[in-house]
Amino acid sequence: MSSTESAPQRVVPAHLLKGQKALVTGANSGIGRATAVALGRAGADVVVNYVAGREDAEQVVEEITGSGVQAAAYEADVSDEDQVVAMMDRMVKEFGTIDILVANAGLQRDAPFTEMTLAQWQKVLDVNLTGQFLCAREATKEFLRRGVVPEVSRAAGKIICMSSVHQIIPWAGHVNYASSKGGIQMMMETLAQELAPKKIRVNAVAPGAIKTPINRSAWDTAQAERDLLKLIPYDRVGEPEDIAHAVVALASDLMDYVVGATLYVDGGMTLFPGFATGG
Ligand code: BGC
Repeated sequence: MSSTESAPQRVVPAHLLKGQKALVTGANSGIGRATAVALGRAGADVVVNYVAGREDAEQVVEEITGSGVQAAAYEADVSDEDQVVAMMDRMVKEFGTIDILVANAGLQRDAPFTEMTLAQWQKVLDVNLTGQFLCAREATKEFLRRGVVPEVSRAAGKIICMSSVHQIIPWAGHVNYASSKGGIQMMMETLAQELAPKKIRVNAVAPGAIKTPINRSAWDTAQAERDLLKLIPYDRVGEPEDIAHAVVALASDLMDYVVGATLYVDGGMTLFPGFATGG
């Protein structure tokens, strides 16, 4: 095994999430995939949601079950209410309950403002924002029904919203995406305020530039990577595991007092690096 393959196994504590049931949306690729695998390494049983890419999802399931936990791939479009309700029902039937929701599924449909179609705007809002709303709502119903099980976790449930640095960094040519992420920030904080008394912790992870298919053109040539690194004080482009590890920590009782927080995992992208030498 290469050192890059073994590294994540070394850092994820194997029993941190033992006995917990996690659902990761959009888990067939990118950040979702790494997160589902890391949750499995931490001892959670994992539902791998996907909307397209069944084979990839099955591979993720295989990788997770290699950690000695249960996993299954469920197809559902997170922006479709009936499909989300059915997915949650199936999870409760087959896995018993849900303890951790990672609302990760997201996409980009980029265009200059005057060329952006209503369909491009709507698709991004539907998947990125409404999808998280629907999954969070259905997971919350189950958290409330079941309540706290102290042997499993101090919280009745944990929701981790996958946001982006673009919840606060405006992004020309991506008004649909940036608006969806700005919406996620306020949705997450409002849910955190509403659900904290019920012992449900809602938080977000805001990734910076992470090497995944969504932004391949931003890092897959030497020139593109050099340009991208100008925006990243820590001087490396992120890997999906960087985000996965933050999610595992946030979902665990190590972070039990963390409520309504956004954890930026971005190598310093939100530190206004242009001002290191200017201003
Ligand atoms: C976007 C990526 C982008 C990164 C940093 C992410 O939310 O999906 O395409 O590279 O933000 O700008």
